[in-house]
Amino acid sequence: MALYALGDLHLSFQADKSMDVFGKVWKNHERKIEKYVNRVVKPEDTLVLTGDHSWGRKLEECREDLAFIERLPGRKILLRGNHDMFWDAKKTGRLNEEYQGRLFFLQNNFAVYEDYALVGTKGFAFEGPFYLDRRGRVIGWDEERERQAKKLVDREMERLRISFEQAKGAGYRKFIMFLHYPPTNILEEDSPFTRMAEEYQVSAVVYSHCHGKQRFGDSIRGNFHGIPYMLVSGDYLDFHPALVQVP
Ligand SMILES: [Fe+2]
Ligand SMILES: [Fe+2]
Repeated sequence: MALYALGDLHLSFQADKSMDVFGKVWKNHERKIEKYVNRVVKPEDTLVLTGDHSWGRKLEECREDLAFIERLPGRKILLRGNHDMFWDAKKTGRLNEEYQGRLFFLQNNFAVYEDYALVGTKGFAFEGPFYLDRRGRVIGWDEERERQAKKLVDREMERLRISFEQAKGAGYRKFIMFLHYPPTNILEEDSPFTRMAEEYQVSAVVYSHCHGKQRFGDSIRGNFHGIPYMLVSGDYLDFHPALVQVP
């Protein structure tokens, strides 16, 4: 039994949106997903998909994308991404009822992998606009947007804590933390999310959302304060699911 993660599938079997314009890595990316996931993930494994699943705006426009995910091997756990308009955070229960035994939607709840609780939420990171000098160094940013971003961070922190506390209440002491957004923005060394990861002594933090070579280094990759951080954006991994190794 292994644990894998992959983010940002950005499927559009129904929505009229091609990812090809974003570069070669996105060409026929759904075929790559199918091929690479089938190559490594076994039916007994768990695959966490860290958000931005579908371009559909309503659930009815996402059915084929979700069916594609359902056909992938293993137990599929889905996190909410910023593009997942079909998923109303307040109606996660309804999605879980409808897809029971087929897909699990992780939000204000948790899943179990061996003796680990898989916890997570969308998260949030301030993305600017930043003002740069001629050398490309950040010399300022939109402070009003930054204030709004702080509110979104607070709300996501509440949701993440609910996930942790439910798992803790059920007796779990080992955690793997999933976010859609990177845990820190480009200005931060740490954040409320990294501090929460440390508070609960998580075994790993897994996130995605960062697209394109210029963005892959936006946040933490590798060890930070003793916790491994993994970026699993689809294009970063060329759509190969990443093995989440835990002690
Ligand atoms: Fe994305
Ligand atoms: Fe995203």
